[in-house]
Amino acid sequence: MSSQSAVRLQIDGLGRAFQGRPVVRDVTLSVAAGQVLCLLGPSGCGKSTTLRIVAGVDWPDTGTVRVDGRVVTGEGRRVPPEERSVGLMFQDFALFPHLSVADNVGFGLRGPRAQRQARVRELLERVHLDSHAAAFPHELSGGEQQRVALVRAIAPRPRVMLMDEPFSGLDNRLRDGIRDETLAVLKEEGTAVLLVTHEPEEALRMADEIALMRGGRIVQRGAPYNVYNNPADREAAAFFSDINVITGEVNGALTETPFGRFLVPGGVQDGTVVDIVIRPQHVRIDFDREGRGPLPTPQDGTPARAIVVRSRFIGKESLVEFRLDQDGSRMSATVPSVFLPKPGTPLWLMIRRDRCFVFPRK
Ligand SMILES: Nc1ncnc2c1ncn2[C@@H]1O[C@H](COP(=O)(O)OP(=O)(O)O)[C@@H](O)[C@H]1O
Ligand SMILES: [Mg+2]
Repeated sequence: MSSQSAVRLQIDGLGRAFQGRPVVRDVTLSVAAGQVLCLLGPSGCGKSTTLRIVAGVDWPDTGTVRVDGRVVTGEGRRVPPEERSVGLMFQDFALFPHLSVADNVGFGLRGPRAQRQARVRELLERVHLDSHAAAFPHELSGGEQQRVALVRAIAPRPRVMLMDEPFSGLDNRLRDGIRDETLAVLKEEGTAVLLVTHEPEEALRMADEIALMRGGRIVQRGAPYNVYNNPADREAAAFFSDINVITGEVNGALTETPFGRFLVPGGVQDGTVVDIVIRPQHVRIDFDREGRGPLPTPQDGTPARAIVVRSRFIGKESLVEFRLDQDGSRMSATVPSVFLPKPGTPLWLMIRRDRCFVFPRK
C-alpha cells in the first residue's frame, strides 16, 4: 500500500457516557494519510467528545484509538496527548501572547536550531505571513492569527490533525479563503485530518469523506456528493437543506401523491406510510396556461397546480412557498433570483423522480 492511502487514524467501537447518558455510541471511523474526514452533526451530538478521546484528553468506556496502527487509547493503554503525534486546532485556539509569530510556530519543534528556523520560515511563507514573523499575536487580524495557529499545529508534522470547528470564529467573507488555504496546506503536508463541524457547507466544501453523526452514532458515511444526493434517511436529507416532504400510503408498490404515482423501494408492504423527500432546488416550476399546465413526463411525473403563498429574494436565488390546489399542502422551491413571483400567482410544480428520496416511515 502506498503511504498516501495508509490508514493513519483508526477508531473502533468508541463509547462514552456521562452520568449514565450515552453521548458517543459505537463510533468506528478511519482516516488515511492525505485524507480529510469531516465529522458532521448538530450541536450536542457527540462530535467534540469523540475528538477529545482521539486527542487523549478524555477516555472512552469502550473502544480503541490507533495512530499508525499503534493503540493509543484502549486495551488498557492511555498514551498522553503529547506522545500521540496528533496536532490540535480548536475554535478558541490560543496563540502564546508573549511569543512572536515565529516563536509560536516553532514552539513544538525539536532538533537543531537551523532546521527549526527553516521549518518556521517555510510555513510562514506558505501562508504569506513571513513578513509578520517578528510580530506578536495581538498585532495580527483574526484571519492571520488563524493561519498562525494552523501552521503552529502542523509544524511538528503530526501524523493526524484534529480540528474542532476551527473556522467558526471567523467572519463569513474571510472564512472561505482560509478554509481553502488550510485545505491546501493540509493536503501538501499529507496529514490525516479529522475535522469536526456542525455546518454542512463546511463539510461539503472541505471533506473527502463525511461521517454524519446524530445522537452519538454515525448514521452515514460517504463522499460529500453521495451523502448529499443519497441520504440515509429523512433526517440526513434535512440536515443539508430545507426539504419538502410528501406523505403517501403504499398500495401495490406504488403511492399516490398530488404528483402522480411513485414507485416505492422493494419490500415495503402495502399500508406502509412513506415520506417522499425532495429538496427545494429540485422542484421545477412552469407557467399556468389558463388553468392547464405542462404535460406529464416519465421523468417529471404529473405536474401539480399550486398558488404562490410567499416569495423571498435571498440573493443568488428566490425562495418561493406554494400551496397545492389538490390537498392544500405546502411546498417550497428555489428558483433563480431573476424570478420573484407575486403571492396569489398560480404556477405548476413538477418534481424530478430521480431527485426524490423515498423513505418508509419508521
Ligand atoms: N464532561 C462532560 N460532562 C457531562 N456531559 C458532557 C461532558 N462533555 C460533553 N457532555 C455532553 O455530551 C453531549 C455531547 O457533547 P459534545 O461532544 O460537546 O457535542 P458536539 O461537539 O457535537 O456539540 C452534550 O449533551 C454535552 O452536554
Ligand atoms: Mg463541539
